[in-house]
Amino acid sequence: MASLTVRQLDDRLKKLLRLRAARHGRSMEDEIRVILKAAADDAGRDGLDRDEPPARAARQRASSVVAEQKRVLLIIGGGIAAYKSLDLIRRLQDRGFAVRVILTAAAQHFVTPLAAGALAGERAFTDLFDPQSEFDVGHIRLARDADLIVVAPATADLMAKMAAGLADDLASAVLLATGKPMLLAPAMNPQMFAAKATQRNLARLTADGVQLIGPNAGEMAERSEAGLGRMAEPLEIAAAADALLRGAGVLAGMRFLVTSGPTAEPLDPVRVLANRSSGKQGHAIAAAAAAAGAEVVLVSGPVNLPDPPGVEVVHIETARQMLAAVEKALPADVAVFAAAVADWRPQEASQNKIKKHGKPPSIALVENPDILSTIAHRKSGRPKLVVGFAAETDNVIANAKAKLLKKGCDWILANDVSPATGIMGGDANTIHLVTAAGVEDWPPQSKDAVAHALVERIAVALKDGTT
Ligand code: CTP
Repeated sequence: MASLTVRQLDDRLKKLLRLRAARHGRSMEDEIRVILKAAADDAGRDGLDRDEPPARAARQRASSVVAEQKRVLLIIGGGIAAYKSLDLIRRLQDRGFAVRVILTAAAQHFVTPLAAGALAGERAFTDLFDPQSEFDVGHIRLARDADLIVVAPATADLMAKMAAGLADDLASAVLLATGKPMLLAPAMNPQMFAAKATQRNLARLTADGVQLIGPNAGEMAERSEAGLGRMAEPLEIAAAADALLRGAGVLAGMRFLVTSGPTAEPLDPVRVLANRSSGKQGHAIAAAAAAAGAEVVLVSGPVNLPDPPGVEVVHIETARQMLAAVEKALPADVAVFAAAVADWRPQEASQNKIKKHGKPPSIALVENPDILSTIAHRKSGRPKLVVGFAAETDNVIANAKAKLLKKGCDWILANDVSPATGIMGGDANTIHLVTAAGVEDWPPQSKDAVAHALVERIAVALKDGTT
């Protein structure tokens, strides 16, 4: 790696740097580090993510199809439930969120900044007057960089500070400095929760627009005590965070149904009839719709992809199972059929492995149900917008137009899947959107980009009523 020293900088730059470093009481090298860190943060988190440990990098890949990764700032308060907040970091990441952590002084009696930082993939923040965090990020930046602030456990003390507008430590200063949505997961002894002061503070906070999840009823850390005061479970808090973040998306309130991947039709217990579909396009569409705020059900054949974050995934094998899962997932506002459904299946799947007995067996095939056509032709409960794909190797547009009519769908995304295009299994796609109004030729782009373009196009069409 090339190295850069202060000496190599031009004189004007050196002078500016010297003045800035002196103003901040830092060496010139340290000042450069701070500037580079701020620039990297401004340029987005992607470059930094590459330095993360492999386990986390893999988790991030699963959410690479999300348009813009949403950022959750998790403030861990000082209560025994803080140990569950370490799990909450993971649960939030599972939903595709980047998580940053602040620990109050009291929280550090229960969990360490090291553990929280290791799980979050970056150091946890603890002090308002810590020169490193102030110069690196700063409490104002921490407050503004987040899309949502989650406080878990939200102790009686922390909620009292919030209600009173105190800002004498990093957590309370960030909570006062933010204009972002806040979600509190209160956790405390039932008597503390029932106390008039706590209830007054809670009423104040909810009137201020703060959202609450829990507390739940149950056994307390002190074995003999039970009542209302247990922190909501990490999965519940992550789901509530998800719902809040989606509420802001262009597809908030919409239900999407997406099919993806191949189907595998059994011949016998070890052999299947399948195809080369990777599921990348369908999965990317499901993830993009979820990132835009839609509630998404993805019905997927066997693929080698992680489940997209924030999406309900139904795993199936055969076309008939896919149809049953699709019908069960209705009603939906929008249905996108991206699966490469096997057109035929062996008439009978042998119970036992078919053995070699001289000449190869002849296999009778029967046609599978056409899932897109079945749903598009429904008399009742038809989604407002039904979108199909047309995988063609020749006469792409003409065949797609014919498919639009035959299958009764509203839009067809036609693509040329002849081997030379590398679309089947590849990462890119060239789409022609065929609608009743005409044909739109989209530029060649990644399957993720196609997914986002489609989701945006759908959002506009739903808003304008031009489906
Ligand atoms: N499709 C479906 N169920 C099937 C076959 C196809 O839902 N049994 C859907 C696909 O998900 C896609 C569209 O129909 O959205 C068109 O799929 P495609 O493979 O291009 O067309 P086919 O109907 O299979 O017609 P052909 O193979 O003759 O081109």
